[in-house]
Amino acid sequence: DWTMEGFIDSAVNKISKIEGDVLCGVSGGIDSTVAALLIHKAIGNRLKCVFVNNGLLRLNEEIEIKEMFEKNFNVNFTMVDAVQDFLSKLKGIEDPERKRKIIGEEFINVFTDFAKNKGPFKWLAQGTLYPDVIESGVSKGPAAVIKSHHNVGGLPDWLDLEILEPLRELYKDEVRKIAKILGVPEKLFMRHPFPGPGLAVRIIGEVTPKKLQISKVASKIVEDELIASGFYGKVWQAYAAVGDDKAVGVVGDERKYGNIVMIRVVDSIDAMTADWTRLPHELLEKISNRITNEVEDVTWVTYAISSKPPATIEPQ
Ligand code: XMP
Repeated sequence: DWTMEGFIDSAVNKISKIEGDVLCGVSGGIDSTVAALLIHKAIGNRLKCVFVNNGLLRLNEEIEIKEMFEKNFNVNFTMVDAVQDFLSKLKGIEDPERKRKIIGEEFINVFTDFAKNKGPFKWLAQGTLYPDVIESGVSKGPAAVIKSHHNVGGLPDWLDLEILEPLRELYKDEVRKIAKILGVPEKLFMRHPFPGPGLAVRIIGEVTPKKLQISKVASKIVEDELIASGFYGKVWQAYAAVGDDKAVGVVGDERKYGNIVMIRVVDSIDAMTADWTRLPHELLEKISNRITNEVEDVTWVTYAISSKPPATIEPQ
């Protein structure tokens, strides 16, 4: 009899038998959050969660993540402020794949430092789901809640961590049900998927503090207006991108040369293909007005009307 309550009891029971401290990197996404909460239920403060703030998340998201873990769940949680590290590594970099590579490597650096300095840890927890397990060719077995092998995720071998993957029997919709049972705020598990490299793939060209700020504040307006109009839950992803293109606007009786923001809203089933969302013109107008009024230095707002293929969902 496979109920989610039954799964939780049995996973907690199995995890409570392990020895040693567990390190869990959390992103604020549902998988790592649920993995951490199951382990926390089983071993309390022997679980240490670390969240690397790379400065590339959505507006105020790092504060929401910290508050959720510390206040809602009383988890041993550390936020590593690596914003300046990431920004300086990304300085001058315009190529999308180089940006991804730099972000991945810097994450491993910061995470490894934490593991080395705050340990010793015996286990590394990961929010791996069943579809990831099939993809990697490992079969699903009855004792699969705890599976240990070495050197996963690009971490150095000498850390010598065993892998703890409490979600490896589950599909995404099952993880959502467990999140609900464990009391994860609805806002978190109803939120759109967000790329690992964060706003670096929504900022065209070099990532600068100014472009980050524009993308964050304008994307918040897009999200808020979609929520208010009931569209948020119906679309796959929605955000505001920004690059280096500028266009002239008028403020009072002065001409002002400001940034162009590109709104991207798409429908999709699995992100392999995507169609641009036919939002009502009135809604687009409202979003545009709010962005030019509320986001400093933005003079024009455009709407991306390319589907995938030939475009992709993210511009970088
Ligand atoms: P594209 O832009 O390729 O995106 O159509 C497809 C889906 O993947 C997400 N995405 C990423 N996710 N690392 C990630 O974890 C990445 O480098 C990355 N690039 C794109 C994107 O948000 C969309 O859901």
